Amino acid sequence: MRRAFFLTFEGIDGCGKSTQAKRLEQALTERLFPVTHTFEPGGTLLGRKLRTILVHDELNLSLFSEVLLFAADRRQDIDEIINPALERGDIVIGERFADSSVAYQGIAGKVGKERVERLMDIVTSGLVPDLTLLLDIDPRVSLDRKIDLDRIEQRGLFLDVVRHAFLDMATSQPERWVTIDAARPMDDVFSDVLKAVLKRLE
Ligand code: TMP
Repeated sequence: MRRAFFLTFEGIDGCGKSTQAKRLEQALTERLFPVTHTFEPGGTLLGRKLRTILVHDELNLSLFSEVLLFAADRRQDIDEIINPALERGDIVIGERFADSSVAYQGIAGKVGKERVERLMDIVTSGLVPDLTLLLDIDPRVSLDRKIDLDRIEQRGLFLDVVRHAFLDMATSQPERWVTIDAARPMDDVFSDVLKAVLKRLE
């Protein structure tokens, strides 16, 4: 069974993307679909180095240079993993793609939605996922309880904007996006994920 299909998971930090993407990879592989699984930032060797800078280093990155580093990671992911897999006819499962840059940097980070969309159009050469699953959850539920309360509050406010940016994007493109309530038990979320994907693959 070979039919190229590009699906992505989006959602705020801690929404459960990685767990759901791994379960989906396993379920599709069991059904004999050829699957390639990648993630951003960090799916490639370059991406892993960029991820360290983007997620861990205190480099005081300017907003725009942050967008460009996410963009470099994305282009490498496309050239090294996504496009070759689509050419082989695989189903590609991506954890995050251009929509994350639009929501986090463009809207919540104030670089500007249209600016980031234009940049992403160039960076991706117009590649758009066939299906995007939004794992929607309140940041107060998803945030790592290990970080201190002030940071949770601060990060929570930012992630609330990101969350609503994703919800708006999903509403404006219902033919591509499916929104799934990710505050429920993992098995229930996965059941909806699998249902949405199999429906699109039929
Ligand atoms: P993760 O939650 O998928 O591991 O991603 C790490 C962080 O990077 C997360 O806070 C979201 C952020 N991010 C952006 O801000 N812009 C992007 O384009 C991507 C791919 C991730």
